[in-house]
Amino acid sequence: DLGCFTYDPGFIATAACKSKITYIDGDNGILLYRGYPIEQLAENCEFTEVAYLLMNGELPDATQLRDFNEEISDRAIIHEALRKFFDGFHYDAHPMAMLVGVVGSLSAFYHSDLNIKDPASRIICATRLIGKMPTIAAASYRHSIGRPFVYPRMDLSYCENFLNMMFSRSSQNYIDQEHYIDPNLVKALNLLFILHADHEQNASTSTVRMAGSTGANPYACVAAGIAALWGPAHGGANEAVLNMLAQIGSVENVPKYIAKAKDHDDPFRLMGFGHRVYKNFDPRATIIRKTCYEVLSRTNTSDPLFELALALEEYALKDEYFIEKKLYPNVDFYSGIIYKALHIPVEMFTVMFAIARTAGWISHWLEMMEEPTTPISRPRQLYVGPPRRDYVAINNR
Ligand code: SDX
Repeated sequence: DLGCFTYDPGFIATAACKSKITYIDGDNGILLYRGYPIEQLAENCEFTEVAYLLMNGELPDATQLRDFNEEISDRAIIHEALRKFFDGFHYDAHPMAMLVGVVGSLSAFYHSDLNIKDPASRIICATRLIGKMPTIAAASYRHSIGRPFVYPRMDLSYCENFLNMMFSRSSQNYIDQEHYIDPNLVKALNLLFILHADHEQNASTSTVRMAGSTGANPYACVAAGIAALWGPAHGGANEAVLNMLAQIGSVENVPKYIAKAKDHDDPFRLMGFGHRVYKNFDPRATIIRKTCYEVLSRTNTSDPLFELALALEEYALKDEYFIEKKLYPNVDFYSGIIYKALHIPVEMFTVMFAIARTAGWISHWLEMMEEPTTPISRPRQLYVGPPRRDYVAINNR
C-alpha cells in the first residue's frame, strides 16, 4: 500500500526507501512537503513553520509555532568552548569546512543526546541542530573576515537572527543597537530557506539516512550530509554558478560556453542547469526566479554578472540541445544570484543551503529512527575487477 500515489513496478524496484515527507513528480514539476504544494508554503509560511511541518507531519497551530520558535531560539546559543573551535581554523578556511567540523563536534558536547532510542531525546537533537546551524554558520563567516562573534538574540526571528549574526557590527562588548535588518532581505531569505528545506532522497539526505541507519548519532549524520552537500554537482552548485559566470565573463561569450557545455569532450558544464529528477522546470526555480527578478529590480543591482546570468538563462532556454535534453535552470541557478544581490559572500552560498536543508535532513533521520526495523543501508555492487588470482611475492613482481 503506497498511499495516494501510484508507481510503476520498475520505479518501486529502484526506490531507496519509503518516506512520508516529500513527494516529487519530476515530469510534471510537482513538489509537496507532507502533501502541501511548495508554492503555497513559499507564499504563506515562515521557515520554522515549514521545519515543524517536515519534522512532525502537520502544520503547527499558533501555540505550537510560538513554542517551537521559542525552543529553536533558546537552542541557538552554542557552548563557549565550541565557539573557541573557530579560533583554531586557518584564517581562510572555507566555511563549509568549518561547518562540517563544528557540527560533527556537537556530539562531543551533548552526550545525553546520544541515547537515540528515546523519542524525546531525538526531538531535542533535532531542535538543537535547527537552532544552532545559523549560529555556527554565521560564526564561520565572522571568523573568515576576522570579525567578533555575534550572539543570537531571543527577540529576533530565525532569519533576522541569522542576518544579525552575519552582518551586525556588534561584539561581546558592544551591541549595535542601530543595526538595520532589511525586511525585504529577511523575506527573500525566508523564501530561500523554505525552498531548500527538503527534497526527497537527494545525495546529502541519502547520506544522512545511510549514516543514521548504522545507529550513528544525529550530529555525526548531519555532518556527513553537510560533506555530501558541498560537492559542486549538488549543493555546491550555487557557488559554482557564480564562479561559472565569472569564467564566462561577458554576454558576448555566452554562445561559446553554451557550445562547450554541449561538447562531451569538454569538461565545462552549465552549473545551475539540469536535475537528476526534474525533466521539466524545477518548481522551486519557477518560484525563486520571480524573487530573483524582484530582488534585482529592488536592489537595482547594476552588477554585470546579473545581466550575464539572465542572458545565459535566455540563451539556454532557447537552445535545441538543452530543450531536447530537458535541461532547465534549477534552484541553484537563481539562489546564487539572489544571495550575491543580498551581499552574502559566495563561499557562504552552500552554507545557506545547509542551514535550510538541516530541517529536511533531521526530519528524515527522525522518520527513519521511528521505523525500528529499518535495516542498515547496505547497497550491493556489480564486481568488474580481476578474477581470482594467487599472491605474488614482491621479488617476483
Ligand atoms: C541540486 O537531487 C536533488 O534533489 C538535488 C537538489 C536538492 O534540492 O537536493 O535539487 C539540489 O543538487 C540541484 C542540481 C545542482 N547541480 C548543478 O546545477 C550542477 C550542473 N548539473 C549537472 O551536473 C547535472 O545536471 C546533474 C548532476 C544535476 C544531473 O546530471 P544527470 O543525471 O547526468 O542529468 P541527465 O541525465 O538529465 O543528463 C542528460 C544529458 C546528459 O548528456 P547525454 O549523456 O545524454 O549526452 O544532459 C547532460 C548530460 O551529460 N547534462 C548537462 C548538464 N546536466 C546534464 N550538460 C551540460 N550542462 C549540464 N548542467
